[in-house]
Amino acid sequence: MFPIPVQRDFSLRHLNTFGIDAKAAVYLQVDGIDTLLAVRNDKELSMLPRLILGGGSNLLLTQDFPGLVLHMRGAGIRVVGEDETSVYVTAGAGETWHRFVQWTLELGLGGLENLSLIPGSVGAAPIQNIGAYGVEVKDRFHSLTAFDFVDGKTLTLDNAACRFAYRDSIFKHELRDRAVVLDVTFALPKQWQANINYADVMQELSARQITSPSPRDVADAVISIRTRKLPDPAQIGNAGSFFKNPIVSAQQRDSLLALHPQLVSYAQPDGSCKLAAGWLIDQCGWKGRSLGAAGVYEKQALVLVNRGGASGKEIAALAQAIQADVQARFGVRLEPEPVFI
Ligand code: EPU
Repeated sequence: MFPIPVQRDFSLRHLNTFGIDAKAAVYLQVDGIDTLLAVRNDKELSMLPRLILGGGSNLLLTQDFPGLVLHMRGAGIRVVGEDETSVYVTAGAGETWHRFVQWTLELGLGGLENLSLIPGSVGAAPIQNIGAYGVEVKDRFHSLTAFDFVDGKTLTLDNAACRFAYRDSIFKHELRDRAVVLDVTFALPKQWQANINYADVMQELSARQITSPSPRDVADAVISIRTRKLPDPAQIGNAGSFFKNPIVSAQQRDSLLALHPQLVSYAQPDGSCKLAAGWLIDQCGWKGRSLGAAGVYEKQALVLVNRGGASGKEIAALAQAIQADVQARFGVRLEPEPVFI
């Protein structure tokens, strides 16, 4: 057995998009299953609490992590097959999501263009079923392979097995801290159709006078909208939307609408309603405000930002203050999207 090249008291500052300076007691880069098997066989390492780290774009470090951070690095993208309906593409968990999406587009494969510019890694994408502009990972997902720490074996999960829902999957529940995603396979449709029902995308394309967009056109429109509305983590620390859009009953939506006629809501296929959390927060007057070095982004109230040197606790305190105001004013509980450590 080779010595495992761990690092101790390792700063995670450059490995989380909030840019929070917290440390991992033990840190290890993972390039493949051999490293995971070695960890599982190691007396000390196998006992430690584990944090699986991808691009660190959905993480709030409120303290040092007292266990083992496994930083997924395995990259590589390849076309693995095709049938009548789809082309199948597999990417390593450590691959950068946006780089992967652009690679598929360069090959002329449509399907992931609406998900351009989402920060993070391929391996993290299924965990919270990332989504934007009317498309979610689950819509293009075929299967993944993961290492199961409990029985030391490789698992293959298909779309149904992942139990995808809005920003949710089995990896946030039964398989939490247990399965480590190694690679993900997507089924990209041969009969591609633009998904441009989302108002922002439609407006952007019409401003560019594009009536029959290609996948590249849609990607360019999405990239331009995101660049305008969302802060670049390389400039201002953030984790994208900090809260999920809350889902309420149609009845609760109707009562809220009676009191707040401008309420933004979207009917769901099952009859419930999704409320725009950004609107709720904005109405409470939080947009652009700060508590210490933690702030609410000026252009989108759903995004919390690190204005420079914020601690994770400061961001969490701001989140709590927002939750309390939204609860008091609208009777709605906002649930954070990032994982808190
Ligand atoms: N709004 C306001 N004030 C604000 C922000 C939003 O009034 O400060 C209103 C907007 O005018 C709009 C509505 O709220 O009517 C919704 O806003 P927007 O279309 O910008 O989308 P969102 O609900 O804020 C969601 C996802 C984003 C995704 C976009 C586009 C969640 C939690 N967020 O944001 O995902 O990019 O739709 O599809 O579902 C992420 O998860 O990290 C993320 C960025």
